[in-house]
Amino acid sequence: MSTDIKNASPLRCAVLISGGGRTLKNLLDYKSSGRLKNVCFPLVVSSSPTAAGLQYAALCNADAQVVERKEFDSDDAFSDAIYDLIEQSQCNFIVMAGFMRKLIIRPEWENKAVNIHPSLIPSFCGPGFYGKKVHQAAIDYGVKVSGCTVHFVTNEVDGGPIILQKTVSVHSDDDADSLAARVLEVEFQALPEALELIADGRVTVVGRKTVIMD
Ligand code: GAR
Repeated sequence: MSTDIKNASPLRCAVLISGGGRTLKNLLDYKSSGRLKNVCFPLVVSSSPTAAGLQYAALCNADAQVVERKEFDSDDAFSDAIYDLIEQSQCNFIVMAGFMRKLIIRPEWENKAVNIHPSLIPSFCGPGFYGKKVHQAAIDYGVKVSGCTVHFVTNEVDGGPIILQKTVSVHSDDDADSLAARVLEVEFQALPEALELIADGRVTVVGRKTVIMD
């Protein structure tokens, strides 16, 4: 079965963050340099009140909100609070940009939420793999190539259909910081590229795969 991802244009994205916000800042830089024409970012939701990334919301006049997991009894209740904000801001798309909490994907949000993960899925992903832990695991395993993956979000952690991946070399003298920095450079290309493909209606989901139209 194929799902044509003709999302409403423009993509009104709720950007979910938890920390530094470099991924968000990069998206805003793309937007302000005239790219991402059919994509806008009216809402930023942080799972932490101290997330440095919250400062960037002001740069794009986005509504910045904090929803902390500890305020809720369950992932469902936490997710409901985030969906309320998304609906209030009339967003039609979700971008997880360094978001370290579980958002339950409601059926109506299938193929309308993307995440960026700093490894080549299905390696070094899933529960417990986030941030520097991903890069340390790649180094400890001895892989020669790593990279990043942009994928649709499902209720399986890091398990949704892959939209695109970009690779980097792993050097023999890399530590988690140096590898993270090299991967971040390709993350900065991959996420805007994926959003542009989706906004242009070029992404179709077929089973657990995506097909990208020329
Ligand atoms: C990015 O490298 C992103 O891929 C990673 O966290 C970093 C966020 O940085 N995400 C994950 O590990 C998700 N499993 P930022 O908060 O500065 O944008």
